[in-house]
Amino acid sequence: GCDIMKIAVAGTGYVGLVTAVCLAEKGHNVTCVDINQDKIDLMKQGISPIYEQGLQDLMLKNKESLIYTSDYVEAYKNAEVIFIGVGTPENKSGSANLEFVNEVAIQIAHTIEENCVIVVKSTVPVGTNDKIEQLIIENLKNDVSISVVSNPEFLSQGTAIKDTLYAKRMVLGVESKHAEMIMKKVYDPFNIPYVVTDRRSAEMIKYASNDFLALKISYINEIANLCEIVDANIEDVVQGMGMDPRIGGQFLNAGIGYGGSCFPKDTKALHWLANFNDYEIKTIKATIEVNENQKIKLIKKARKYYDSFNNLEVAILGLTFKPGTDDLREAPSLVNIPILLEDGANVRVWDPVGADNFRKNFSTQVRYCQSIEEAITNADLCFIFTEWPEVKQFDISNYSKLMNCPIVIDGRNCYSLESAEEAGIVYDSIGRKKVNNMEYSTGMKLSVMK
Ligand code: UDX
Repeated sequence: GCDIMKIAVAGTGYVGLVTAVCLAEKGHNVTCVDINQDKIDLMKQGISPIYEQGLQDLMLKNKESLIYTSDYVEAYKNAEVIFIGVGTPENKSGSANLEFVNEVAIQIAHTIEENCVIVVKSTVPVGTNDKIEQLIIENLKNDVSISVVSNPEFLSQGTAIKDTLYAKRMVLGVESKHAEMIMKKVYDPFNIPYVVTDRRSAEMIKYASNDFLALKISYINEIANLCEIVDANIEDVVQGMGMDPRIGGQFLNAGIGYGGSCFPKDTKALHWLANFNDYEIKTIKATIEVNENQKIKLIKKARKYYDSFNNLEVAILGLTFKPGTDDLREAPSLVNIPILLEDGANVRVWDPVGADNFRKNFSTQVRYCQSIEEAITNADLCFIFTEWPEVKQFDISNYSKLMNCPIVIDGRNCYSLESAEEAGIVYDSIGRKKVNNMEYSTGMKLSVMK
Protein backbone atom coordinates (compact mmCIF):
# COMPACT_ATOMS: atom_id res chain seq x y z
CA GLY A 1 0.00 0.00 0.00
CA CYS A 2 0.90 3.64 -0.29
CA ASP A 3 2.31 5.59 2.62
CA ILE A 4 0.16 8.67 2.84
CA MET A 5 2.39 11.69 3.30
CA LYS A 6 1.78 15.21 4.47
CA ILE A 7 2.92 17.43 1.65
CA ALA A 8 2.95 21.18 1.04
CA VAL A 9 3.37 22.72 -2.40
CA ALA A 10 4.55 26.31 -2.81
CA GLY A 11 3.17 28.04 -5.90
CA THR A 12 -0.01 27.20 -7.81
CA GLY A 13 1.11 27.89 -11.37
CA TYR A 14 1.35 25.10 -13.93
CA VAL A 15 4.08 23.22 -12.15
CA GLY A 16 2.86 23.67 -8.57
CA LEU A 17 -0.83 23.06 -9.04
CA VAL A 18 -0.49 20.12 -11.41
CA THR A 19 2.06 18.50 -9.08
CA ALA A 20 -0.21 19.03 -6.07
CA VAL A 21 -3.29 17.63 -7.73
CA CYS A 22 -1.45 14.58 -9.06
CA LEU A 23 0.08 13.88 -5.62
CA ALA A 24 -3.44 14.03 -4.16
CA GLU A 25 -4.70 11.73 -6.89
CA LYS A 26 -2.07 9.21 -5.76
CA GLY A 27 -3.34 9.34 -2.18
CA HIS A 28 -1.25 11.98 -0.41
CA ASN A 29 -2.54 14.87 1.71
CA VAL A 30 -1.55 18.07 -0.02
CA THR A 31 -1.70 21.73 0.98
CA CYS A 32 -1.29 24.25 -1.85
CA VAL A 33 0.23 27.57 -0.88
CA ASP A 34 0.06 30.77 -2.89
CA ILE A 35 0.50 34.42 -1.90
CA ASN A 36 -2.29 35.40 -4.28
CA GLN A 37 -5.50 35.29 -2.20
CA ASP A 38 -7.76 35.64 -5.26
CA LYS A 39 -6.30 32.46 -6.69
CA ILE A 40 -6.74 30.67 -3.38
CA ASP A 41 -10.40 31.75 -3.21
CA LEU A 42 -11.03 30.46 -6.73
CA MET A 43 -9.46 27.09 -5.98
CA LYS A 44 -11.43 26.76 -2.76
CA GLN A 45 -14.55 26.97 -4.92
CA GLY A 46 -13.16 24.15 -7.03
CA ILE A 47 -12.15 26.41 -9.91
CA SER A 48 -8.77 26.03 -11.57
CA PRO A 49 -6.99 29.38 -12.03
CA ILE A 50 -5.26 28.04 -15.14
CA TYR A 51 -6.64 26.58 -18.35
CA GLU A 52 -5.46 23.00 -18.46
CA GLN A 53 -7.44 20.02 -19.66
CA GLY A 54 -8.53 17.64 -16.88
CA LEU A 55 -7.09 19.75 -14.08
CA GLN A 56 -10.34 21.05 -12.66
CA ASP A 57 -11.95 17.58 -12.74
CA LEU A 58 -9.04 16.15 -10.77
CA MET A 59 -9.23 19.03 -8.28
CA LEU A 60 -12.87 18.17 -7.61
CA LYS A 61 -12.28 14.43 -7.49
CA ASN A 62 -9.59 14.85 -4.82
CA LYS A 63 -11.06 17.75 -2.88
CA GLU A 64 -10.94 15.78 0.39
CA SER A 65 -7.15 15.60 0.26
CA LEU A 66 -6.42 19.08 -1.12
CA ILE A 67 -6.23 22.24 0.97
CA TYR A 68 -5.66 25.71 -0.51
CA THR A 69 -4.23 28.47 1.64
CA SER A 70 -2.18 31.64 1.67
CA ASP A 71 -1.08 30.85 5.22
CA TYR A 72 2.33 29.32 4.59
CA VAL A 73 3.14 29.03 8.29
CA GLU A 74 0.31 26.52 8.80
CA ALA A 75 1.17 24.74 5.58
CA TYR A 76 4.88 24.27 6.18
CA LYS A 77 5.26 23.76 9.90
CA ASN A 78 4.47 20.02 10.05
CA ALA A 79 4.94 19.04 6.42
CA GLU A 80 7.06 15.96 5.74
CA VAL A 81 7.82 17.13 2.22
CA ILE A 82 7.62 20.63 0.74
CA PHE A 83 7.64 21.09 -3.03
CA ILE A 84 8.77 24.42 -4.49
CA GLY A 85 7.00 25.11 -7.78
CA VAL A 86 7.20 28.89 -8.07
CA GLY A 87 8.32 30.67 -11.23
CA THR A 88 11.89 31.37 -12.32
CA PRO A 89 11.32 34.07 -14.95
CA GLU A 90 14.06 35.33 -17.20
CA ASN A 91 16.25 38.24 -16.13
CA LYS A 92 17.29 40.82 -18.72
CA SER A 93 20.67 39.11 -19.02
CA GLY A 94 19.02 35.76 -19.83
CA SER A 95 19.80 34.31 -16.42
CA ALA A 96 17.03 32.84 -14.27
CA ASN A 97 15.45 35.09 -11.65
CA LEU A 98 15.58 33.21 -8.34
CA GLU A 99 13.87 35.84 -6.22
CA PHE A 100 10.66 33.79 -5.74
CA VAL A 101 12.46 30.53 -5.05
CA ASN A 102 14.68 32.21 -2.46
CA GLU A 103 11.72 33.88 -0.81
CA VAL A 104 9.96 30.54 -0.36
CA ALA A 105 13.19 29.00 0.95
CA ILE A 106 13.39 31.64 3.69
CA GLN A 107 9.72 31.16 4.57
CA ILE A 108 10.33 27.43 4.90
CA ALA A 109 13.39 28.00 7.09
CA HIS A 110 11.40 30.29 9.37
CA THR A 111 8.43 28.00 9.84
CA ILE A 112 9.26 24.29 9.78
CA GLU A 113 9.02 22.49 13.11
CA GLU A 114 9.83 18.96 11.89
CA ASN A 115 12.58 17.37 9.84
CA CYS A 116 11.64 17.69 6.25
CA VAL A 117 12.65 17.20 2.64
CA ILE A 118 12.41 20.22 0.34
CA VAL A 119 11.88 19.40 -3.31
CA VAL A 120 12.74 21.92 -5.98
CA LYS A 121 10.53 21.48 -9.06
CA SER A 122 11.21 24.91 -10.52
CA THR A 123 13.79 25.00 -13.29
CA VAL A 124 16.94 26.48 -11.76
CA PRO A 125 20.54 26.86 -12.95
CA VAL A 126 23.04 24.19 -12.05
CA GLY A 127 24.25 24.73 -8.50
CA THR A 128 21.10 26.48 -7.27
CA ASN A 129 19.84 23.55 -5.18
CA ASP A 130 23.09 23.58 -3.21
CA LYS A 131 22.57 27.28 -2.53
CA ILE A 132 18.94 26.80 -1.55
CA GLU A 133 19.95 24.14 0.97
CA GLN A 134 22.57 26.49 2.40
CA LEU A 135 20.10 29.36 2.57
CA ILE A 136 17.53 27.27 4.43
CA ILE A 137 20.04 25.85 6.90
CA GLU A 138 21.39 29.32 7.69
CA ASN A 139 17.88 30.66 8.37
CA LEU A 140 16.34 27.77 10.34
CA LYS A 141 14.43 28.92 13.42
CA ASN A 142 13.98 25.48 14.96
CA ASP A 143 16.32 22.58 15.63
CA VAL A 144 15.36 20.41 12.67
CA SER A 145 17.26 18.81 9.83
CA ILE A 146 16.43 19.29 6.19
CA SER A 147 17.67 18.16 2.82
CA VAL A 148 17.00 19.61 -0.59
CA VAL A 149 16.16 17.43 -3.59
CA SER A 150 16.21 18.48 -7.22
CA ASN A 151 13.20 16.97 -8.98
CA PRO A 152 12.79 18.72 -12.33
CA GLU A 153 9.44 18.87 -14.07
CA PHE A 154 8.89 17.81 -17.68
CA LEU A 155 5.19 18.52 -18.20
CA SER A 156 3.87 20.20 -21.33
CA GLN A 157 0.97 22.62 -21.23
CA GLY A 158 -2.21 21.05 -22.56
CA THR A 159 -1.16 17.53 -21.52
CA ALA A 160 0.16 18.39 -18.06
CA ILE A 161 -1.89 15.89 -16.05
CA LYS A 162 -1.08 12.94 -18.28
CA ASP A 163 2.58 14.01 -18.47
CA THR A 164 2.77 13.98 -14.66
CA LEU A 165 0.79 10.84 -13.86
CA TYR A 166 2.49 8.83 -16.62
CA ALA A 167 5.87 10.56 -16.83
CA LYS A 168 8.58 8.79 -18.81
CA ARG A 169 11.09 9.19 -16.01
CA MET A 170 11.33 10.64 -12.53
CA VAL A 171 14.60 12.47 -12.00
CA LEU A 172 15.76 12.65 -8.38
CA GLY A 173 18.84 14.71 -7.63
CA VAL A 174 19.68 13.76 -4.05
CA GLU A 175 22.64 14.17 -1.74
CA SER A 176 21.51 11.69 0.94
CA LYS A 177 20.08 8.18 1.17
CA HIS A 178 17.42 9.48 3.53
CA ALA A 179 16.15 12.03 1.00
CA GLU A 180 16.10 9.34 -1.70
CA MET A 181 14.05 7.08 0.56
CA ILE A 182 11.49 9.82 1.33
CA MET A 183 11.16 10.71 -2.35
CA LYS A 184 10.54 7.11 -3.25
CA LYS A 185 7.79 6.98 -0.64
CA VAL A 186 6.20 9.98 -2.34
CA TYR A 187 6.52 8.68 -5.87
CA ASP A 188 6.25 4.88 -5.63
CA PRO A 189 2.48 4.98 -6.27
CA PHE A 190 3.19 6.64 -9.64
CA ASN A 191 5.14 3.60 -10.83
CA ILE A 192 7.53 5.62 -12.98
CA PRO A 193 11.19 4.64 -13.61
CA TYR A 194 13.65 6.62 -11.47
CA VAL A 195 16.86 8.31 -12.50
CA VAL A 196 18.69 8.88 -9.23
CA THR A 197 21.68 11.19 -9.41
CA ASP A 198 23.33 14.11 -7.66
CA ARG A 199 21.61 17.48 -7.55
CA ARG A 200 23.78 19.21 -10.14
CA SER A 201 23.28 16.47 -12.70
CA ALA A 202 19.53 16.54 -12.09
CA GLU A 203 19.48 20.29 -12.71
CA MET A 204 21.46 19.73 -15.89
CA ILE A 205 19.13 16.96 -17.12
CA LYS A 206 16.29 19.46 -17.19
CA TYR A 207 18.12 22.10 -19.24
CA ALA A 208 19.80 19.56 -21.49
CA SER A 209 16.43 17.91 -22.24
CA ASN A 210 14.50 21.08 -22.97
CA ASP A 211 17.30 22.60 -24.99
CA PHE A 212 17.69 19.45 -27.03
CA LEU A 213 14.01 19.58 -27.96
CA ALA A 214 14.39 23.26 -28.88
CA LEU A 215 17.45 22.32 -30.95
CA LYS A 216 15.41 19.68 -32.79
CA ILE A 217 12.80 22.30 -33.65
CA SER A 218 15.32 24.88 -34.87
CA TYR A 219 17.12 22.21 -36.85
CA ILE A 220 14.00 21.05 -38.65
CA ASN A 221 12.94 24.64 -39.26
CA GLU A 222 16.21 25.27 -41.05
CA ILE A 223 15.81 22.11 -43.09
CA ALA A 224 12.27 23.29 -43.97
CA ASN A 225 13.60 26.67 -45.06
CA LEU A 226 16.04 24.90 -47.36
CA CYS A 227 13.29 22.59 -48.64
CA GLU A 228 11.39 25.67 -49.81
CA ILE A 229 14.41 26.85 -51.76
CA VAL A 230 15.30 23.53 -53.37
CA ASP A 231 11.73 22.32 -53.90
CA ALA A 232 11.67 19.42 -51.47
CA ASN A 233 8.80 18.59 -49.11
CA ILE A 234 9.53 18.86 -45.38
CA GLU A 235 6.73 16.53 -44.38
CA ASP A 236 8.04 13.68 -46.47
CA VAL A 237 11.57 14.45 -45.31
CA VAL A 238 10.50 14.25 -41.66
CA GLN A 239 8.58 11.05 -42.22
CA GLY A 240 11.66 9.48 -43.72
CA MET A 241 13.91 10.76 -40.95
CA GLY A 242 11.56 9.83 -38.14
CA MET A 243 11.40 6.16 -39.10
CA ASP A 244 15.00 5.86 -37.98
CA PRO A 245 14.59 5.17 -34.26
CA ARG A 246 17.92 6.91 -33.57
CA ILE A 247 16.27 10.13 -34.74
CA GLY A 248 12.64 9.64 -33.77
CA GLY A 249 9.75 11.46 -35.39
CA GLN A 250 8.69 13.61 -32.44
CA PHE A 251 9.41 17.32 -32.12
CA LEU A 252 10.23 17.54 -35.79
CA ASN A 253 7.23 19.62 -36.83
CA ALA A 254 8.53 22.56 -38.81
CA GLY A 255 6.70 25.80 -38.13
CA ILE A 256 7.19 29.35 -36.98
CA GLY A 257 9.41 28.56 -34.04
CA TYR A 258 8.97 27.51 -30.45
CA GLY A 259 7.32 29.75 -27.86
CA GLY A 260 5.94 29.14 -24.39
CA SER A 261 7.26 29.47 -20.90
CA CYS A 262 10.12 26.98 -21.16
CA PHE A 263 12.10 26.64 -24.38
CA PRO A 264 12.84 30.35 -24.93
CA LYS A 265 13.78 30.83 -21.27
CA ASP A 266 15.72 27.59 -20.83
CA THR A 267 17.79 27.98 -23.99
CA LYS A 268 18.79 31.47 -22.89
CA ALA A 269 19.52 30.32 -19.36
CA LEU A 270 21.85 27.54 -20.47
CA HIS A 271 23.56 29.88 -22.90
CA TRP A 272 23.99 32.34 -20.04
CA LEU A 273 25.31 29.64 -17.69
CA ALA A 274 27.88 28.55 -20.24
CA ASN A 275 29.02 32.13 -20.88
CA PHE A 276 29.21 32.77 -17.17
CA ASN A 277 31.64 29.86 -16.98
CA ASP A 278 33.67 31.09 -19.97
CA TYR A 279 32.22 28.50 -22.27
CA GLU A 280 29.97 28.83 -25.28
CA ILE A 281 27.39 26.25 -26.31
CA LYS A 282 27.37 26.98 -30.02
CA THR A 283 24.44 24.72 -30.87
CA ILE A 284 22.20 26.49 -28.37
CA LYS A 285 23.29 29.91 -29.53
CA ALA A 286 22.31 28.89 -33.06
CA THR A 287 19.03 27.40 -31.83
CA ILE A 288 18.04 30.74 -30.31
CA GLU A 289 19.04 32.72 -33.40
CA VAL A 290 17.19 30.43 -35.80
CA ASN A 291 14.07 30.63 -33.65
CA GLU A 292 14.04 34.41 -33.65
CA ASN A 293 14.15 34.52 -37.45
CA GLN A 294 11.60 31.77 -37.81
CA LYS A 295 9.06 33.68 -35.75
CA ILE A 296 8.82 36.45 -38.35
CA LYS A 297 8.98 34.18 -41.35
CA LEU A 298 5.31 34.56 -42.25
CA ILE A 299 5.56 38.33 -42.48
CA LYS A 300 8.48 37.93 -44.88
CA LYS A 301 6.38 35.55 -46.95
CA ALA A 302 3.47 37.98 -46.97
CA ARG A 303 5.65 40.78 -48.31
CA LYS A 304 5.98 38.78 -51.51
CA TYR A 305 2.28 39.29 -52.12
CA TYR A 306 1.74 42.84 -50.99
CA ASP A 307 3.85 45.96 -51.34
CA SER A 308 2.52 47.22 -48.05
CA PHE A 309 0.13 46.08 -45.36
CA ASN A 310 -1.34 49.56 -45.12
CA ASN A 311 -5.15 49.35 -45.03
CA LEU A 312 -5.11 45.62 -45.64
CA GLU A 313 -7.67 43.49 -43.84
CA VAL A 314 -5.55 40.85 -42.15
CA ALA A 315 -7.00 37.78 -40.40
CA ILE A 316 -5.00 36.02 -37.71
CA LEU A 317 -5.97 32.47 -36.75
CA GLY A 318 -4.45 31.48 -33.42
CA LEU A 319 -2.73 33.68 -30.85
CA THR A 320 -1.39 31.21 -28.29
CA PHE A 321 2.08 29.65 -28.55
CA LYS A 322 0.48 26.26 -29.19
CA PRO A 323 -3.00 24.69 -29.12
CA GLY A 324 -4.57 23.46 -25.89
CA THR A 325 -3.49 26.42 -23.78
CA ASP A 326 -4.51 30.05 -23.27
CA ASP A 327 -0.86 30.95 -22.70
CA LEU A 328 0.64 33.66 -24.90
CA ARG A 329 4.14 33.71 -23.48
CA GLU A 330 6.70 34.10 -26.30
CA ALA A 331 4.00 33.35 -28.88
CA PRO A 332 4.84 34.28 -32.49
CA SER A 333 1.59 36.31 -32.62
CA LEU A 334 3.12 38.78 -30.15
CA VAL A 335 5.95 39.74 -32.49
CA ASN A 336 3.98 39.61 -35.72
CA ILE A 337 0.85 41.54 -34.84
CA PRO A 338 2.73 44.72 -33.77
CA ILE A 339 4.57 44.69 -37.12
CA LEU A 340 1.27 44.47 -38.98
CA LEU A 341 -0.30 47.23 -36.89
CA GLU A 342 2.76 49.41 -37.33
CA ASP A 343 2.39 49.01 -41.10
CA GLY A 344 -1.22 50.17 -40.93
CA ALA A 345 -3.02 46.84 -41.33
CA ASN A 346 -6.50 46.32 -39.95
CA VAL A 347 -6.08 43.19 -37.88
CA ARG A 348 -8.83 40.77 -36.90
CA VAL A 349 -7.95 37.86 -34.63
CA TRP A 350 -9.54 34.57 -33.72
CA ASP A 351 -8.43 32.22 -30.95
CA PRO A 352 -10.72 29.83 -29.06
CA VAL A 353 -9.21 30.56 -25.61
CA GLY A 354 -6.27 32.97 -25.93
CA ALA A 355 -8.17 36.16 -26.76
CA ASP A 356 -8.66 37.27 -23.16
CA ASN A 357 -4.96 37.12 -22.40
CA PHE A 358 -4.23 38.88 -25.67
CA ARG A 359 -6.61 41.69 -24.81
CA LYS A 360 -4.40 42.58 -21.86
CA ASN A 361 -1.65 43.63 -24.32
CA PHE A 362 -3.46 44.92 -27.36
CA SER A 363 -7.00 45.68 -26.16
CA THR A 364 -8.57 47.96 -28.77
CA GLN A 365 -6.08 47.78 -31.59
CA VAL A 366 -7.46 44.60 -33.12
CA ARG A 367 -10.92 43.22 -33.79
CA TYR A 368 -11.80 40.08 -31.84
CA CYS A 369 -13.79 37.52 -33.78
CA GLN A 370 -16.00 34.74 -32.45
CA SER A 371 -15.44 32.40 -35.37
CA ILE A 372 -12.93 31.65 -38.10
CA GLU A 373 -15.57 32.61 -40.66
CA GLU A 374 -15.97 36.02 -39.08
CA ALA A 375 -12.20 36.58 -39.03
CA ILE A 376 -11.61 35.74 -42.68
CA THR A 377 -14.69 37.36 -44.23
CA ASN A 378 -13.51 40.02 -46.71
CA ALA A 379 -9.90 39.65 -45.57
CA ASP A 380 -7.05 40.33 -48.00
CA LEU A 381 -4.65 38.02 -46.20
CA CYS A 382 -4.84 35.29 -43.57
CA PHE A 383 -2.08 34.12 -41.26
CA ILE A 384 -2.23 30.86 -39.30
CA PHE A 385 -0.11 31.08 -36.16
CA THR A 386 -1.52 28.20 -34.08
CA GLU A 387 -2.66 24.78 -35.27
CA TRP A 388 -5.91 24.68 -33.30
CA PRO A 389 -8.09 21.67 -34.21
CA GLU A 390 -10.79 24.15 -35.30
CA VAL A 391 -8.37 25.50 -37.92
CA LYS A 392 -7.26 22.09 -39.13
CA GLN A 393 -10.86 20.91 -39.43
CA PHE A 394 -12.07 24.11 -41.05
CA ASP A 395 -13.49 23.62 -44.52
CA ILE A 396 -10.68 25.01 -46.67
CA SER A 397 -13.04 25.98 -49.50
CA ASN A 398 -14.37 28.72 -47.19
CA TYR A 399 -11.20 30.76 -47.69
CA SER A 400 -11.96 31.31 -51.36
CA LYS A 401 -15.66 31.78 -50.65
CA LEU A 402 -15.28 34.32 -47.86
CA MET A 403 -11.99 36.17 -48.31
CA ASN A 404 -11.63 39.23 -50.48
CA CYS A 405 -8.37 37.81 -51.71
CA PRO A 406 -7.72 34.20 -50.64
CA ILE A 407 -4.08 34.28 -49.64
CA VAL A 408 -3.46 31.95 -46.71
CA ILE A 409 -0.03 31.93 -45.09
CA ASP A 410 0.15 28.97 -42.79
CA GLY A 411 2.89 28.73 -40.16
CA ARG A 412 1.76 25.29 -38.99
CA ASN A 413 1.06 23.30 -42.14
CA CYS A 414 -2.59 22.71 -41.25
CA TYR A 415 -3.73 21.66 -44.73
CA SER A 416 -2.57 19.30 -47.43
CA LEU A 417 -1.27 20.86 -50.64
CA GLU A 418 -3.87 18.89 -52.62
CA SER A 419 -6.76 20.37 -50.65
CA ALA A 420 -5.35 23.87 -51.08
CA GLU A 421 -4.98 23.29 -54.81
CA GLU A 422 -8.56 22.12 -55.01
CA ALA A 423 -9.84 25.02 -52.90
CA GLY A 424 -8.42 27.51 -55.38
CA ILE A 425 -6.44 29.57 -52.87
CA VAL A 426 -2.93 30.91 -52.66
CA TYR A 427 -1.42 28.74 -49.97
CA ASP A 428 2.04 29.41 -48.64
CA SER A 429 3.13 27.05 -45.85
CA ILE A 430 6.38 25.88 -44.24
CA GLY A 431 8.92 23.76 -46.13
CA ARG A 432 6.51 22.89 -48.92
CA LYS A 433 5.74 24.06 -52.45
CA LYS A 434 3.64 27.15 -52.77
CA VAL A 435 0.14 26.60 -54.07
CA ASN A 436 -0.53 29.42 -56.50
CA ASN A 437 -4.00 29.61 -57.82
CA MET A 438 -3.99 33.22 -58.78
CA GLU A 439 -2.44 34.77 -61.84
CA TYR A 440 -1.47 37.98 -60.17
CA SER A 441 0.61 36.31 -57.54
CA THR A 442 3.15 35.13 -60.08
CA GLY A 443 5.61 37.90 -59.51
CA MET A 444 3.46 41.00 -59.53
CA LYS A 445 2.87 42.40 -56.08
CA LEU A 446 -0.59 43.36 -55.00
CA SER A 447 -1.41 46.73 -53.66
CA VAL A 448 -4.75 47.56 -52.19
CA MET A 449 -6.48 50.76 -53.05
CA LYS A 450 -9.13 51.75 -50.62
C1 UDX B 1 7.90 22.19 -23.06
C2 UDX B 1 8.45 20.76 -22.92
O1 UDX B 1 7.84 19.90 -23.89
C3 UDX B 1 8.24 20.23 -21.52
O2 UDX B 1 8.84 18.94 -21.40
C4 UDX B 1 8.85 21.19 -20.53
O3 UDX B 1 8.64 20.76 -19.22
C5 UDX B 1 8.28 22.59 -20.72
O4 UDX B 1 8.48 23.01 -22.06
P1 UDX B 1 5.53 23.33 -23.51
O5 UDX B 1 6.27 24.61 -23.55
O6 UDX B 1 4.28 23.26 -22.71
O7 UDX B 1 6.48 22.16 -22.94
O8 UDX B 1 5.10 22.95 -24.99
P2 UDX B 1 5.67 22.04 -26.18
O9 UDX B 1 4.57 21.17 -26.63
O10 UDX B 1 6.93 21.39 -25.86
O11 UDX B 1 5.88 23.14 -27.32
C6 UDX B 1 6.78 24.22 -27.16
C7 UDX B 1 6.85 25.03 -28.43
O12 UDX B 1 7.51 24.32 -29.47
C8 UDX B 1 5.49 25.42 -29.02
O13 UDX B 1 5.55 26.78 -29.42
C9 UDX B 1 5.32 24.52 -30.21
O14 UDX B 1 4.54 25.09 -31.22
C10 UDX B 1 6.75 24.32 -30.66
N1 UDX B 1 6.96 23.04 -31.36
C11 UDX B 1 6.86 21.86 -30.70
C12 UDX B 1 7.28 23.04 -32.72
O15 UDX B 1 7.38 24.10 -33.34
N2 UDX B 1 7.50 21.84 -33.34
C13 UDX B 1 7.41 20.66 -32.70
O16 UDX B 1 7.65 19.61 -33.34
C14 UDX B 1 7.08 20.66 -31.33
